Amino acid sequence: MSDKIIGIIGLGNMGTAIAEGFIGAGISSNKIIASGRDLNKLNKKADNLGIVAATSNEEVADKADIIIIAVIPSVIEETLNPIKEQLQGKLVVSVVSRYFFEEYEQLFTGLNIHHISTIPNTPVAVGEGIFVCEKKHNLSDEEFGLFKDLFSKIALLQFFDTNLLEVATVISGCAPAFADMFIEALGDAGVTYGLTRNEAYSLAAQMLVGSGKLRNESRKHPGELKDLVTSPGGTTIRGVNSLEEDGFRGTIIRAVKAIVES
Ligand SMILES: NC(=O)c1ccc[n+]([C@@H]2O[C@H](COP(=O)([O-])OP(=O)(O)OC[C@H]3O[C@@H](n4cnc5c(N)ncnc54)[C@H](OP(=O)(O)O)[C@@H]3O)[C@@H](O)[C@H]2O)c1
Repeated sequence: MSDKIIGIIGLGNMGTAIAEGFIGAGISSNKIIASGRDLNKLNKKADNLGIVAATSNEEVADKADIIIIAVIPSVIEETLNPIKEQLQGKLVVSVVSRYFFEEYEQLFTGLNIHHISTIPNTPVAVGEGIFVCEKKHNLSDEEFGLFKDLFSKIALLQFFDTNLLEVATVISGCAPAFADMFIEALGDAGVTYGLTRNEAYSLAAQMLVGSGKLRNESRKHPGELKDLVTSPGGTTIRGVNSLEEDGFRGTIIRAVKAIVES
């Protein structure tokens, strides 16, 4: 894999997060080439990351082996139409929301382009992301192996049928905002009792990192993990009871429903 060149078409928020994640995972920054619309902006961002700034999307399509499509959905056709012939023989990874296998097949009609659609979240920047991936793709076994090897360096990869991508993305991509609100609320509570903001936020954030890691590594039911922290007659169960009285779990489920059904 070390000889593969990674191309990013659209070095915006997500393209940058992915580049940061790869660099943090030890991929040499000179193996990453990116393009953008505004070349001044692109050059500055590429300089900050130490990656190669391309002068055009054609250059990325020409030089890269793995090409990440990271533009917004409304410009995808105008971006890819001029270069789609060049994408044949490359491994194309889309991170564009709501643009999945069938939409690409339509766009690529008559061409033999190997592609997979995914939706990452921004924690990919620190190697703790999630790539929600569409099960339906046309990568060869070798390309699929390469895709998994590369992207699992920065994220958990989870594969779903097309009809489940939306809800999976709400949990991976929207719920970080809920988690940030939870961290902020715990921070306010800590500050109430004398912790500094920074101390309280660091404690709350690392508590979420550790609780998430423990769940995924142990594969235990979250209720079982909660039970391990709530000793009989202890203090934690009082907090749990208080959350139940205020409808904590129902509130979260309603928030997910509000997005999915919007
Ligand atoms: N941000 C997230 O949390 C997130 C999560 C999951 C999926 N996504 C998906 O990731 C994609 C990018 O989102 P984003 O948040 O990173 O948006 P963004 O910050 O607006 O980035 C889009 C980038 O595409 C560039 N671009 C526009 N037209 C182009 C063209 N013709 N050729 C090359 N580059 C072009 C823009 O460059 P200029 O600035 O020069 O115009 C910009 O840097 C979207 O499809 C989105 O659905 C994002």
